[in-house]
This record gives sequence, C-alpha cells and structure tokens, in this order.
Amino acid sequence: MSARPVATIAAALLGIGALPAPGPSVAHHGRPMVIAHRGASAYAPENTLAAVDLADELGVGWVETDVQRSKDGELVVVHDAGLARTTDVEQRFPGRAPWKVKDFTAAEIATLDAGSWFGGRWAGARVPTLKEYLNRVDTHHQMLFLEIKKPELYPGIEADTLRVLDEEGWLDRHHVRRRLVILSFRAATVKAVHARRPDVTTGFNGAPAVADLPAYAAFTDQINPAVGTVDAAYVAAVQALNGAHGRPLRVNAGTVNDAAGARRLAGFGVDGIFSNNPDVVADALDGD
Ligand code: G3P
Ligand code: CA
Repeated sequence: MSARPVATIAAALLGIGALPAPGPSVAHHGRPMVIAHRGASAYAPENTLAAVDLADELGVGWVETDVQRSKDGELVVVHDAGLARTTDVEQRFPGRAPWKVKDFTAAEIATLDAGSWFGGRWAGARVPTLKEYLNRVDTHHQMLFLEIKKPELYPGIEADTLRVLDEEGWLDRHHVRRRLVILSFRAATVKAVHARRPDVTTGFNGAPAVADLPAYAAFTDQINPAVGTVDAAYVAAVQALNGAHGRPLRVNAGTVNDAAGARRLAGFGVDGIFSNNPDVVADALDGD
C-alpha cells in the first residue's frame, strides 16, 4: 500500500485543502516496512507530536523516536544529548551552556520552542514527554521503535523507560506483540531491557561483526545498521540466525530518504527502512 503522495503533503504544509482520511499503515507486504525516523521528520520538526501526526496523515504505521531523561527524572523525547540544535534553549537560558538535556528540569524543557528552528509555522511545538508521545502514538494506532538514547548518561534509564511504558499501557500483550520495539546503540542497554522484560522485542542499532552476531542474538531480535555499513551478504548473515524470540533476526537499516537508496536497500533484502520522508521511500518500494 502506497503512502500518500508528496503533493498531498505539500498541500497540507501550505494549508491548501483538507488532508484525506488517514490511510492504512505502510506495512511489510513482501517488501521492507517503512519507519518514520523521528516521525515524518522531513516535513515537521523531529521528535515532536506534529511529526507523529504527519506520519499518521501520510499513512505511516511505524514511527521511531529517542528517549532521554531530564534533571528531575522525567523521560523526554529528544535526539541530541543537548537541546541547542532543536530548541530555543540558548536564547531562553543563556547562562546554562552546554544546554544538556540532563541539566534541565522537565518544567524548563516544557517551555522550550522545539519548532521554530524547523520553520516559522512550527513555532510553539514542544519537546514531548515520553508519556505524551506514547499517548499520541496510541491515539493514531501507530507502532513504535523507541530508542533509549545516550543511556550512558542516564544510569537506570532502562528501568525508567519500562516503568513509563507500563504505566501508559504499552507493556500489555497487544502492545508487546504488535506495536513496540525498544532499541539502543549500547548492547548493555538492549541486554538490560531484555533481562527485565524478555517478552519485549528489542533491536541493536549498529553492525556487529558477523562472528559476534550469535552473542547478540541471545538478547535481541533485530540488528539495525547504518545504511553505509550494510550489504546483501551482511543482511543474509544476520537473517540466517534466530534472535532472542526464536525467529530469524531482522535487519532494519537507515536512514534513507531517496528512492534509489531505498531500492538499493530493498535489494539487499532488509526487513525495514528508517526514513525521514517515509512516503517517498514507500512509493519507491511500491514502484510508484
Ligand atoms: O534508532 C534508529 C536510528 O534512529 C538511529 O539513528 O542517530 O537517528 O538515532 P539516530
Ligand atoms: Ca534514533
């Protein structure tokens, strides 16, 4: 099923006409599934609720995001360890360099403008809490790749993340079986999540050496390499192993934002592709 065309997105961004009703998810029907990387982040400010909404409007079922922890222990959705690139924190708190997420309270972070850097029409977008983000994804009946970002900065964030997921209803049977993957670039974090909740699907972000893959398969279900580090032989080597739940390890690669790159990855046999403009990738994979 194709995502909606770029013209529809452009019309929406320009406020021209109404978007059609949300379509079915971009799902895996014999070709890689497409995952909206930091939401539909080519079209709306990354990791905001607006980027989730836009992914839904494009008919994209899977979204990916990043979670970190505020000074007072709230989990918030933001990619960088610092707030400067994607918010107005430098103007709002000029004496607080280097503006790390971990040095600001949730109340302070909630006041930041996380949209203007991307374009004036997004002014006032906020850094969501994980709770807010989960609720919005749930509202759209979407599915989530949740990356625990920079876990070395936040001791215990694995348990914190699982606690919030549980409180928000994301660790029930339905979500665990169908709608949630927890990721990290840090193997110890993926291991910790798997140890605490062996039922949850996990993914390791990176490309371990083929010889090391069996060790990873003990605690993860996915190997998610950067696009420049993967080829057909590597994908086949990963998929030849069973993961932590006894099914073949899956490979989701990214980030790819163009049709040629998407077709190249599909040719390698990957299971999923992370993309900032998932409609472009979905259309390329569907042959539109
Ligand atoms: O979580 C998968 C992918 O998003 C990893 O890349 O740097 O965008 O978080 P990054
Ligand atoms: Ca990520």
